Amino acid sequence: MTISAIIGGQWGDEGKGKIVDLLSKDTKIVARYQGGANAGHTVYHGDLKVVLHQIPSGILRSGCHCILGNGMVVDPIGLIEEIEMVESHGFDTTGQIHVAMNAHIVTPVHKAVDVATEAANNNRIGTTGRGIGPTYVDKYDRVGIRGIDLLDANRLREKLAAKLESAIQSGHLPQDAKDQLKEQFKTFMDCATRVALLVSDTFALIHEFAERGENILIEGAQGTLLDVDHGTYPFVTSSSASSAGISTGLGLPTTKVEKIIGLLKAYTTRVGTGPFPTELFDDDGQKLRDLGQEYGATTGRPRRCGWFDGVAGLYSARVNGLTDVALTKLDILDHFEEINVCVAYKVDGKEIKNMSEVLHRLENVEPIYESQKGWMSTTTGIEKFEELPQAAQDYISYLEGLMRTRISIISTGPGRDEILLR
Ligand code: IMP
Repeated sequence: MTISAIIGGQWGDEGKGKIVDLLSKDTKIVARYQGGANAGHTVYHGDLKVVLHQIPSGILRSGCHCILGNGMVVDPIGLIEEIEMVESHGFDTTGQIHVAMNAHIVTPVHKAVDVATEAANNNRIGTTGRGIGPTYVDKYDRVGIRGIDLLDANRLREKLAAKLESAIQSGHLPQDAKDQLKEQFKTFMDCATRVALLVSDTFALIHEFAERGENILIEGAQGTLLDVDHGTYPFVTSSSASSAGISTGLGLPTTKVEKIIGLLKAYTTRVGTGPFPTELFDDDGQKLRDLGQEYGATTGRPRRCGWFDGVAGLYSARVNGLTDVALTKLDILDHFEEINVCVAYKVDGKEIKNMSEVLHRLENVEPIYESQKGWMSTTTGIEKFEELPQAAQDYISYLEGLMRTRISIISTGPGRDEILLR
């Protein structure tokens, strides 16, 4: 039996869907522990491309239980849409999706507050507008609506009305929000009734499977640098995206997790605002965006692109306790004669290698690069490490040295088979 976790090692969008899908092959449970519909995990099934936001990426494997853990914020409207989308492709999800009783519920009020707050603040954080922050605020303010609350429709309707009233009273939403949200409330109540049937004690389920010795995969969302504690605060999401969130978000202690696999792109991207030391504003940046099709899976926003940041890579390995790294999108670098890697930051004339030291003023650092030779040939579909071009092997070994972690999985294309295991 193995309990493994896949964690975004950068600012999210590292290609988790594909790796989770691959590793879920012999897995009985895939569980998410934080975040919600802000995630966009792309999974390919043959030629079929499926983008999942809330359902764990094991859903395309028949018999795989998918848990939406208590640390998540679950949007019933989005979840029902997603289930319908998956089923429209011929997958039967019956009995496969389990929502934690104590997961918090995103309502139309939370989404409206998220959008209104961002608009009022000139899009300060660049959130996905999925109601994530406001739902976590309610959770920690101890006034949240939880999975278990979906089971009593009358009570739920009352709670929803009270939530709307309080958002209007506090000035988060305008007086006419009642009219504006009327239709959405109806849809929410319909979807909530259906999601209620999926609510269960996921804590017991995950522990039963663990005690039976089954393989379990934990699917992170977003990335370590978006973690509310360890990320580039305040430009972060509102949950614990790093491995630390597993214990609270599933009730599964991290001592049970044998493998913590960090997913990092062979370069770096970020969506939304916030500091990004290796960001490129030149032709190379545009080339990474075009070749890597770097447009958000959830919002469609163009992603900011830059070179691999080895300082951030080491920080991420330390925060998460990574046992392995899965390096994704290596093939995008097939087209660069020269590849830069950030090995340190320069700030106030000093060279810094500890990200934690400058996390609060990352916008002031200047990346110090070391240049690596490109390989200028295709890596897509190569199955053995030794068969990669020498310069690509050297690049990978170089990143391993910076992160002090073994890169044991290398993705060389979007397809299920375009992957190399070491
Ligand atoms: P929120 O999670 O919607 O509140 O957004 C907060 C920040 O996290 C914004 O900068 C988003 O762009 C970013 N973010 C949220 N989810 C993801 C994700 O899945 N991938 C990449 N960035 C994300």
